[in-house]
Amino acid sequence: MPKRPSRPRAALASLVVAAAAMLSPALAAAAEVIVFGGSGKLGAEVVRALGAAGHEVTVFRRQGSDLSRLQGLKYREAIGDATRAADVQAALAARRYDVVVDALAKGRSEPAAFYTTTHRAIVAAAKASGVKQVILHGSVGAGASRAIYPESRWPAMKDVLLAKDTAERELVASGVPYTIIRNAVLRDDAPGVQEKAALTEDQKRFGAVTRTGLGRLTAECTLKPECLGKVFHAIDPQVAVPR
Ligand SMILES: NC(=O)c1ccc[n+]([C@@H]2O[C@H](COP(=O)([O-])OP(=O)(O)OC[C@H]3O[C@@H](n4cnc5c(N)ncnc54)[C@H](OP(=O)(O)O)[C@@H]3O)[C@@H](O)[C@H]2O)c1
Repeated sequence: MPKRPSRPRAALASLVVAAAAMLSPALAAAAEVIVFGGSGKLGAEVVRALGAAGHEVTVFRRQGSDLSRLQGLKYREAIGDATRAADVQAALAARRYDVVVDALAKGRSEPAAFYTTTHRAIVAAAKASGVKQVILHGSVGAGASRAIYPESRWPAMKDVLLAKDTAERELVASGVPYTIIRNAVLRDDAPGVQEKAALTEDQKRFGAVTRTGLGRLTAECTLKPECLGKVFHAIDPQVAVPR
C-alpha cells in the first residue's frame, strides 16, 4: 500500500503552495494572450508588460514585420494579415487564448476603414473561439469622448475616429467580454522619467500618456474583473498635452 504523507508534512506542503501563490500573484493568474500589432510602438510595450506580469504572449504579425522592438522578449508568433478575416480566424483557432489585445494602427496611405475591418475580424474570431476578454486600444474622439475632442483636429481625424467609434460599438454589441482603453495623445517615454499612467472612467478627461504606461495598464487589466465591460481613458498627468 502506498505510504500516505504524514499530517504535518501535508500541512507544510499546502502552506508552501499558498505562500508561492501569494508571492507570485501574476503567475497564479497567468493568461494566454495574443497581441495584434505586437511589433508596433505601442504593441511592443504591451508585449513587454504582459511578459513581465507572467503571461504567455503571442504576437500576431505580418510576414516581414520589423521585430526590432521585441528583441530580448519572450513570445510566440502567429503570422498573418489582420485585414484578412481568414488569417485572423486561423490564428485564434490555432491556440486557445484567454485574452486578445488589439494594438493595431493603419499605415499612412491606408483608408480609415482599416480599423473597422481588422477589429470586426478580431471580434468575430474572438467570439467563435470563446476568449475571456478583448482589450481594444481605442482613441479619444470615439463614443461619448467626441464631446471633448478638439474641434480644430476633427476634420483631419474624423474618418479615423468614426472608424474607431464603429469598432468600439461593434465590440460592445458582440457580447464578448471587453475592455476599451482610449488614448488621446500618445508619447514615447522621456528619458529618466518614471511613468505614472492611470485609467479613468471619466470620458470627459483629455490627457496624454506614454506607450510604456499604456503597456503596463494593459497588463494590469488582463483578466481583471474590474476592467470588464469598461471604457477607460489612459492619462499620465506628468505628460504634457500639446496646445
Ligand atoms: N493619439 C495619438 O497621439 C496617437 C499617436 C500614434 C498612434 N496612436 C494610436 O495608438 C495605437 C497604436 O499606434 P502605434 O504608434 O503603436 O502604431 P505603430 O507603431 O505604427 O504599430 C502598428 C502595428 O500594427 C501592425 N499592423 C498594421 N497593419 C497590419 C496588418 N494588416 N496586419 C497585421 N498587423 C498590422 C504593424 O505591423 P508591422 O510591424 O508589420 O507594420 C504594427 O505592429 C493606434 O490605435 C493608433 O491609432 C495614437
